[in-house]
Amino acid sequence: GVPLRDLAAEQGVRIGAAVNPYLLEDAPDYRALVAEQYGSVTAQNVMKWNTLQPERGEYDFSTADTLTAFADEHDQAMRGHTLLWHQQNPEWLAEGDFGPEELRSIMRDHIDTVVGEHFAGRVYAWDVINEPFRDSGGELRPNLWLDTLGADYIAEALHTAHEADPDARLYINEFNVEGRNPKSDALYELAASLLEQGAPLHGIGLQSHFHAGTVPEDMVANMRRFTDLGLEVTVTELDISVEVPADEEELRVQARDYRTVVENCLRVSGCTGITVWGIGDADSWIPSWFPGRGAALPFDEDYAPKPAYGSLQEAL
Ligand code: XIL
Repeated sequence: GVPLRDLAAEQGVRIGAAVNPYLLEDAPDYRALVAEQYGSVTAQNVMKWNTLQPERGEYDFSTADTLTAFADEHDQAMRGHTLLWHQQNPEWLAEGDFGPEELRSIMRDHIDTVVGEHFAGRVYAWDVINEPFRDSGGELRPNLWLDTLGADYIAEALHTAHEADPDARLYINEFNVEGRNPKSDALYELAASLLEQGAPLHGIGLQSHFHAGTVPEDMVANMRRFTDLGLEVTVTELDISVEVPADEEELRVQARDYRTVVENCLRVSGCTGITVWGIGDADSWIPSWFPGRGAALPFDEDYAPKPAYGSLQEAL
């Protein structure tokens, strides 16, 4: 059939995938699918802080550059993931116990170097803030940034990223905020107040790690309240897991859900597109993080298309 990236382009959106540069090298089927099917690429891991700045002041862009080179070669846009998060930080940062002034200068140095000096012009959007809220409920998540700098760390990071690359679209990326609930209400309040203060926030990333059968009914309405603020929204990390071993019925529900998510995005002007979090079921993060669940992606363990792939085709 027609590649997903071409179908998406006709609809004025992008379909992307989270990509691992090691698999691009080792798995020819994986490499071929990334090149053929996806028009946008997110680093599944290699633009996180532990990869980019493993020791203080020592940056390593080698694996991230493998990815940007691949994306350039295949005419793919790059989403940057991610700047400030509570996970995958190098030990020197996580355990550093820095005071506010020093931590602020560490943050600025990282953002200036990564967003400005290194990737400016090559990354069109950044998840500046990842997972700022607790798993559920409406409270900010305690993390090294919040604990030391207070809630202003969010506005400060946005301003710093905007100065570093004025053309990049700047996002807050979060999970369990796809429908209306206390967590997405709090995210909405945060976004509205950042905009009111003049912070350069351009978009909301809805990670969209779903269990089959649980796509929220009010996802469109929820996306629209954010776009009504003048923000764009993007489905940034879509996967739809089932209980493994998967049976046919579950894969059918999964396929229907993939279709629903794409249709939801297409119904919202201001939804820029969808990124799936991996290519085939073997390279998904789900089985190792959520034992008993898996088979979450549109291609199976051998990179053969599943019913979910067919519904992406039809929906786009
Ligand atoms: C995951 C990666 O896919 C895994 O390989 C890694 O071990 C852990 O992180 N939310 C995010 C992503 O924002 O960065 C996470 O990616 C999945 C959850």
